[in-house]
Amino acid sequence: AHLWRGVVDEYRDRLPILGDAPAVTLGEGGTPLVRAHKLSEHTGCEVWLKCEGVNPTGSFKDRGMTAAMTAAAASGAKVVICASTGNTSASAAAYATAAGMTCAVLVPDGKIAMGKLAQAIAHGAQLLQVDGNFDDCLTVARKLADAYPVELVNSVNPARIEGQKTAAFEIVDVLGDAPDIHCLPVGNAGNITAYWRGYQEYATDGRLPAKASKTPKMWGFQAAGAAPIVLGHPVDHPETVATAIRIGNPASWQQAIEARDSSGGRIDAVDDPAILAAHRWLSSKEGVFVEPGSAASVAGLLQTHAAGELEPGQRVVCTVTGHGLKDPQWALKTADGGDVQPTRIQVDTVSIANAIGLA
Ligand code: F0G
Repeated sequence: AHLWRGVVDEYRDRLPILGDAPAVTLGEGGTPLVRAHKLSEHTGCEVWLKCEGVNPTGSFKDRGMTAAMTAAAASGAKVVICASTGNTSASAAAYATAAGMTCAVLVPDGKIAMGKLAQAIAHGAQLLQVDGNFDDCLTVARKLADAYPVELVNSVNPARIEGQKTAAFEIVDVLGDAPDIHCLPVGNAGNITAYWRGYQEYATDGRLPAKASKTPKMWGFQAAGAAPIVLGHPVDHPETVATAIRIGNPASWQQAIEARDSSGGRIDAVDDPAILAAHRWLSSKEGVFVEPGSAASVAGLLQTHAAGELEPGQRVVCTVTGHGLKDPQWALKTADGGDVQPTRIQVDTVSIANAIGLA
């Protein structure tokens, strides 16, 4: 059997930035591409889910982190820092541990999902809750990395985008070609930048035979309360239940616009009810449990379909970026916002048979 070696060693010949630096890896990547039967039926398209919650720390950030940490270790770095809405900090903390480095993370006050907070703490990161939002955290992290001997592992670190582009490679490797459309959530806009680069490299890097005959249209979706790219200006006080993408001034803004425009794609907003409806759709109809931010890709697909702007018959991949266990509280809410209560029952066969409709 082939042991999956993690994305650095699986795709090293396409990651020149890393040279032959020994990989800092937790076995990330090689994630499932799952056929979404109900979404396919509903939209008349062939819809697939790239399930990035299956990565070692439960999000796509691990692809970028293995690359950033490999480069940092090779350069002799001892301390890494990041700003994060939660997943980057969880990933940085885990990979810093694997590399034997110290990690500090800056997170916005009180808006981090519990699972992500727990991960950073469990892996021994120094967690600092900043009195501000993600954008404030990133600004101060960048200044710190300029002034002190500490490696910044946010997606402004070029190795991060390089690592994350491998998700596009995997999709083409599995499907045999690029899809027609690729949907994903947009926060700081690193991931849409990375996928676009990956798809372009597989279609046009001059290696023969080319791995893909085309590039997909890139469809990015921001939460309506945190949609600077859609609005065309930064949002000072971003708000959304999808805390992962609660970002008002994305670092890779220009690259996201470039991915949208050169792919003939779109970047739209999806509101919180649509995000939560897609979150519920994925768990209850497809069997895939994601965190709310991840559901923005599918919310966007459903919204575009409802608007009559999704041509049937196309092959669509939606990246679902993080695991549902990161932020499970949303599953315990009813559609109208109430709390789900478990049904209490006696230890009695007949009562249970009645309760589940067998008798
Ligand atoms: N989905 C999840 C689950 C995320 O955690 C993020 C970003 C995104 C989507 C958006 O990706 O920023 O590349 O556009 N999370 C970052 C963090 C900001 O700090 O964990 P993006």
